[in-house]
Amino acid sequence: MRGQKMSKVNIIDQAERTTELTTRRDFVTWLLGGAIFISALAAVWSVIRFITPPKSAPASPTEAQLVASVDEIPRGAGKQVVFGSKPVWVIQDKKGNYKAFSAICTHLGCIAEWQQDKQIFFCPCHAGVLDENGKVISGPPPRPLPPYNLETKDDRIYITGLKEGERLYGA
Ligand code: FES
Repeated sequence: MRGQKMSKVNIIDQAERTTELTTRRDFVTWLLGGAIFISALAAVWSVIRFITPPKSAPASPTEAQLVASVDEIPRGAGKQVVFGSKPVWVIQDKKGNYKAFSAICTHLGCIAEWQQDKQIFFCPCHAGVLDENGKVISGPPPRPLPPYNLETKDDRIYITGLKEGERLYGA
């Protein structure tokens, strides 16, 4: 009689333990599932963010943009600025004329640099050389650096846009 009572108690205890274990297992399974789901969601979101281009400034805005004061660019010097979302060189040639050109090489889109000592633009990717008017001297660039319009007002230099009919590399 006593043995039967003990075994009933054992069965009930075991059943409770099994229920408790099942509940705990369900909870852990649910927790793991949730963590995996959130990780997958984060991964998908990262991929979407990576392949979707960010909203950025237009490549060639229509409004004038202040780029420098005249003192900042002495004769022969240049200053690289960003107009819209694109790099642009503003230079003052040895005769005192301010000029602006896209810094993006027309060959494969590398950034050309203004070399003040030689008065040339040099593209380090494939040794493209362009003169102070953006014209190709040597190397593979197929066309000149696209020029921009400039305005000078109250000793300040503004870029007002790409010259008509010009197009940037890749546009
Ligand atoms: S990208 Fe400039 S020379 Fe090739």
